[in-house]
Amino acid sequence: MTDSSDKLVSRDGHTVPLKRRASVLGADALEISGMAAATGAYGYDPGYAATISCTSRITYVDGEKGVLMYRGYAADELARNSNFEEVSWLLLHGELPKPSELQAFSDELKTLRACAPEVLATIAAMPAHAHPMSVIGAALSVMPAAHTDCIAPNDADHRRRFSHRAIAAMPTIAAAAFRHSQGQAPVSPREDLGHAANLLYMMFGKDPNPTAAKALDTLLVLHADHEQNCSTSTVRMAGSSGVNPFSSLAAGCAALWGPAHGGANEAVLKMLEAIGSPERIEEYIARAKDPNDPFRLMGFGHRVYKNFDPRATIIRDICHEVLKALRAGRGRLFRLARNLEEIALSDRYFKSRRLYPNVDFYSGIIYRAMKLPAEMFTPMFAIARTAGWAAHWCEMHEDPELRIGRPRQLYMGPKPRAYIPAEDR
Ligand code: ACO
Repeated sequence: MTDSSDKLVSRDGHTVPLKRRASVLGADALEISGMAAATGAYGYDPGYAATISCTSRITYVDGEKGVLMYRGYAADELARNSNFEEVSWLLLHGELPKPSELQAFSDELKTLRACAPEVLATIAAMPAHAHPMSVIGAALSVMPAAHTDCIAPNDADHRRRFSHRAIAAMPTIAAAAFRHSQGQAPVSPREDLGHAANLLYMMFGKDPNPTAAKALDTLLVLHADHEQNCSTSTVRMAGSSGVNPFSSLAAGCAALWGPAHGGANEAVLKMLEAIGSPERIEEYIARAKDPNDPFRLMGFGHRVYKNFDPRATIIRDICHEVLKALRAGRGRLFRLARNLEEIALSDRYFKSRRLYPNVDFYSGIIYRAMKLPAEMFTPMFAIARTAGWAAHWCEMHEDPELRIGRPRQLYMGPKPRAYIPAEDR
């Protein structure tokens, strides 16, 4: 137990003073590193739901109030007024760029878009049916060999060069992975287009629709960072060993791919297609509520947001506009999603567990309207989150308190026992 002056009293009467670290916003931290020596016990916290693993100045989330801020600026305000290049600079450098800084940054990103030949060769060598997230992971694994001028964690110039190159090159890698899966050669980037428009151009090889490019840019801004989520914590964990940053990003991509995290956008679309018509919604709601059925309503629920996900609200609004502008003929899925949302939000199971649509409930419908196959939805998330991953990786390596990540365990296996020779088993 902990008393009001932040002391922990163990069962045998040991008192451990806990140093409190005050946050700027949100929960404070109690330092528990002295706890094990005094009590013989570590903290047990599956899923790290109550663990603060680092200090950070990048992103703030208040799950109760539905607040998301990048460097103190509301993400919805940034989504409406800014663009992905500006937000990337903000995440990396802490302030909104002056016009001259933004111009120089955008120009630099354009020069860093093209992929090294060995990276493109790796993509070409992958099986055409490989999932694009798997192809992206392979391409990232080759990047440290191709870009030795930006792989040293302890060199500030390397860190800056890495972060800019990663943000610039990720769309090129993802677009090449997409085209490879379609049996098509990669399309080289164009320097006259912004980040989102160029991404669409590299995927489809034709001038992008401006409404689609604007919507994609907004999605990139809203997905750019989300503090210590699963993939970002993975980037930090891998990076804490001192490995090069591209390998840390590859680890982050692997974590993002899972359906409980960034793979949810792909899973939502597949779920909506499987539901097919409003008459079958109740059947899927019943499955989601059944404790004996592993099915979950994809795009619903969040570890931190317990009232609403502010990103979902904006994405739902732009979804309608995009479907209209692109005359996508996919309004059926949007209407089905609205229907499903309405039914789930009035159901006691979802209400009592505070399960709301998350960022990925509607994003897949927009991507589908842009004619992207479901397998490309998570890569789009990875392109956006590269800005956040890079910012966190750089911040971590500037932190004098950085230690290798190494959690403990509660051992529940066999007690010591003698080896049994093969003939006696
Ligand atoms: N459908 C049905 N029930 C759900 C759902 C869901 N989508 N999400 C949570 N629950 C239930 C759980 O079964 C649990 O019920 P119980 O108390 O009866 O056991 C309760 O709600 C609490 O859920 P937890 O799993 O403890 O919540 P946790 O914070 O660990 O998980 C997560 C959060 C992974 C997002 C979960 O809600 C989920 O799997 N959602 C679907 C996948 C998804 O959309 N992921 C994207 C998240 S956003 C992102 O990463 C970009």
